Amino acid sequence: MPHDQAFWLPFTANRSFWKSPRVITAARGHYYTTDDGRQLLDGFSGLWTSGLGHCHPKIVAAVQEQVATLDYAMGFQVTNDKAIALAREVAALAPAGMGKVFFTNSGSESVETALKIALAWHRARGEGQRTRLIGRERGYHGVNFGGISVGGIAPNRKAFSANLVPGVDHIRHTYSAGDMAFTRGQPTWGAHLADDLERLVMLHDASNIAALIVEPVAGSTGILVPPLGYLQRLREICDKHGILLIFDEVITAFGRVGAPFASTRFGVTPDIITTAKGLTNGVVPMGAVIVRDGIFDALMQGPEHMVELFHGYTYSGHPLAAAAGLATLAVYREEDSFARARATEPVFAEEIHSLRGEPHVIDVRNFGLMGGVELAPREGAVGARGFDVFLKCFEAGVVIRNGGDVVQFSPFLDSTADELGRIVDTVRQALRSLA
Ligand SMILES: Cc1ncc(COP(=O)(O)O)c(C=O)c1O
Repeated sequence: MPHDQAFWLPFTANRSFWKSPRVITAARGHYYTTDDGRQLLDGFSGLWTSGLGHCHPKIVAAVQEQVATLDYAMGFQVTNDKAIALAREVAALAPAGMGKVFFTNSGSESVETALKIALAWHRARGEGQRTRLIGRERGYHGVNFGGISVGGIAPNRKAFSANLVPGVDHIRHTYSAGDMAFTRGQPTWGAHLADDLERLVMLHDASNIAALIVEPVAGSTGILVPPLGYLQRLREICDKHGILLIFDEVITAFGRVGAPFASTRFGVTPDIITTAKGLTNGVVPMGAVIVRDGIFDALMQGPEHMVELFHGYTYSGHPLAAAAGLATLAVYREEDSFARARATEPVFAEEIHSLRGEPHVIDVRNFGLMGGVELAPREGAVGARGFDVFLKCFEAGVVIRNGGDVVQFSPFLDSTADELGRIVDTVRQALRSLA
């Protein structure tokens, strides 16, 4: 194996990659520069991460200043000023009553943290038998063992299936092509799918169930938008049975759906929110788990010198990440980014729905600045057509993403109509050129 190919790329077709590597060496604003000097329009905002554009000068300056002031400080029993400040700001942005923030380094770690907090909370209240965790088919909650266990995407689970976390069930996913294909925004059909949670309550008894985790809008599985009333119904059923509701907002927080959180946009407040990505605009890895006040309070038990929750990461609240987060939240405010994203949503919807009727397109879905265009799979080669669209667009100077045969879009929060038009037209040309 040649050492110049030592890098094993994540979630990548590695053999195909090394035949024709795609390497980015610089970025500014809405464009990447490749190692062969090409400029690419980024239609995916990094990896759902960088809604404010790349190398935003205010975030760059904040990180530069921080690295020269405090590089790292012990994070257990000691902390740094920036982590305290960022937690305060995240809590202020979160739905009312969610005032505690636990920092992680990624979405996957946020999910593990949320699941552990849920279990610890029930135990602290004397309901330690509530151990079952419920996810949803087609859910994506990162790649650690808890996350793939509650997740519902078969390829992420199959090699590890014998070792998944025990005591996990899934409610059914919310997609039904016959009832919702080509819907703009939220489908009107499907609120009743939330009742599937009652089936699991019947099966196990609520007294054994700790938490339900769902993405408010499922991202990685190909943009599944919740039916109108569905999330409200999940909230009601969780309340009825004392089950904690966790919203995995790793993608949907910080403007992606034209609001600080999907919880805010849908008007449904969960007990725990997991975030990452847009928290620092992708500049330094960081995640945050936002928790309802009462959950934290219940865990504050035992002698005061004792650690209350045996959980944390060396880099929880890392000062560089926290400085990037503070600058990012400031720019969201200064540029009114969430409102801008909301105002751009209809323009984006119009653009991607113009792909209806193009070759291979069997559905178009959108919510906020999240979009998915589903293609009919090629006979015997699921995902090949989606991958070809991604490659063609990359060659043509536009970065989008494919999850199997769903072409996915995640434009910048301040995208212009021209940029959105160019991204969609590039996909259109790719579709027309493909078998
Ligand atoms: C909803 C959701 N949860 C968790 C994750 C995992 O985040 P990370 O890749 O930072 O571990 C992702 C990543 O895309 C995600 O979309």
